[in-house]
Amino acid sequence: KTISIRTLYGMPESYVGTVTVAGWVRTVRDSKTFGFIEVNDGTFFKSVQVVFEDHLSNFKEIAKLGVGAALIVTGELVLTPGQKQPFEIKATSIEVEGECPPEYPLQKKRHSFEYLRQIAYLRPRTNTFGAVFRVRSLAAYAIHKFFQERNFVYAHTPLITASDCEGAGEMFRVTTLDPANPPKNEQGEVNFKEDFFGKMASLTVSGQLSAETFAMAFRDVYTFGPTFRAEKSNTPRHAAEFWMIEPEIAFADLNDDMQLAEDMVKFVINYVLEHAKEEMQFFNQFVDKGILERLENIVNADFGKVSYTEAIKILEGSSKKFEYPVFWGCDLQTEHERYLTEEHFQKPVFVTDYPKEIKAFYMRMNEDNKTVAAMDLLVPGIGELIGGSQREERLDVLLERMKELGLNEEDYWWYLDLRRFGGTRHAGFGLGFERLIMYLTGMTNIRDVIPFPRTTGSAEF
Ligand code: 4AD
Ligand code: MG
Repeated sequence: KTISIRTLYGMPESYVGTVTVAGWVRTVRDSKTFGFIEVNDGTFFKSVQVVFEDHLSNFKEIAKLGVGAALIVTGELVLTPGQKQPFEIKATSIEVEGECPPEYPLQKKRHSFEYLRQIAYLRPRTNTFGAVFRVRSLAAYAIHKFFQERNFVYAHTPLITASDCEGAGEMFRVTTLDPANPPKNEQGEVNFKEDFFGKMASLTVSGQLSAETFAMAFRDVYTFGPTFRAEKSNTPRHAAEFWMIEPEIAFADLNDDMQLAEDMVKFVINYVLEHAKEEMQFFNQFVDKGILERLENIVNADFGKVSYTEAIKILEGSSKKFEYPVFWGCDLQTEHERYLTEEHFQKPVFVTDYPKEIKAFYMRMNEDNKTVAAMDLLVPGIGELIGGSQREERLDVLLERMKELGLNEEDYWWYLDLRRFGGTRHAGFGLGFERLIMYLTGMTNIRDVIPFPRTTGSAEF
């Protein structure tokens, strides 16, 4: 049985003696009678150094090995105090499991992120992407841990749905109808009654509406799954397929919602700082200098809070020239969000109480009848990380709002029933998981924090 490199680094002194490791070649250097191989097995950020000498029967074959070859190495682990690496393995046998030819695209040199995107099936083998995807895995675990420790129920909401939660018309259709020859009704429109689900169905843009049904049963719930948006915006922060975490809490208002969001973000940062030390140091050194200090400051200070109306005043009063004009009622653009969080507050900040016109139908109307109990969490370097709100639990107000927006009551019959059958105050939010990973690692393109990015014109691998 082989032993993982992570285990060896954890306590090398207790493995002094014969060990067997399996992994892939990062580099090979050899002279006439001996050589060194850096072997990495993916379990740990660091590689082990293997020393091989010409008494090995396959010495010549080993010396010619290409980067990327798969090996099983048995040898003597010896401690090397004072050296760059705390130990090395003096090989007694090296078995080649899989060779790797010189055309292997990941030779020992720096490759650009753009280049690596084109070989996304290989990039997890690099230092940067190895670190990104390990942090992604740990952050996902931390999120479950955070909610499970607080007794939230993990709700699995459907990916195929008939409702457009955000009302933005950015749904991908799911249909079995023949696009060249769909069935038509008497008016000549496509007859979705003949489609697989008997109505027009789409991929979900958010699990929120379904999560609300579970919150009305379990009080505190969360979803964590893929969501889809046919947003044509070609930006470094938008993907067509992304993962969202959506807690929903009953008997709770907007302040409870913001508290939960702040606690959760801080918990995940702390967890990753503690459990991905090598990876975080790597990001700090090679990707985003100073990120460690910034993250530590974030967990040790309160997030800011400002109303939309106040935020507009701040933007209007700034000497900064914005591309998009600022006025009460405008949707905040990335440049506005980044000014607020990076230059004005210089920390994460919640913006609350947006005009109802720029927010979704389900948000709770404020007393002023102009704004809704919404909150967005803006963070430096990213902009919007979280969008959430208190929900409209008053049936009459909700119906009124849906009418204003031209939404069809029948399409939301079960959602409206939640207000009839023991309806109560409740709130929730959605956190874009990829944006959180960008925030944690300092990576600046969403395509580089999701294993196989789906964006306009790209669905390879
Ligand atoms: O603000 P959004 O659209 O809110 C909702 O979907 C609510 N139903 C959430 C809720 O209250 N349960 O999206 C929430 C978050 C955004 O703040 C952003 O981080 C992320 O999802 N997001 C995207 N991430 C990557 N690519 C996209 N195209 C995204 N669209 C939204
Ligand atoms: Mg939003």
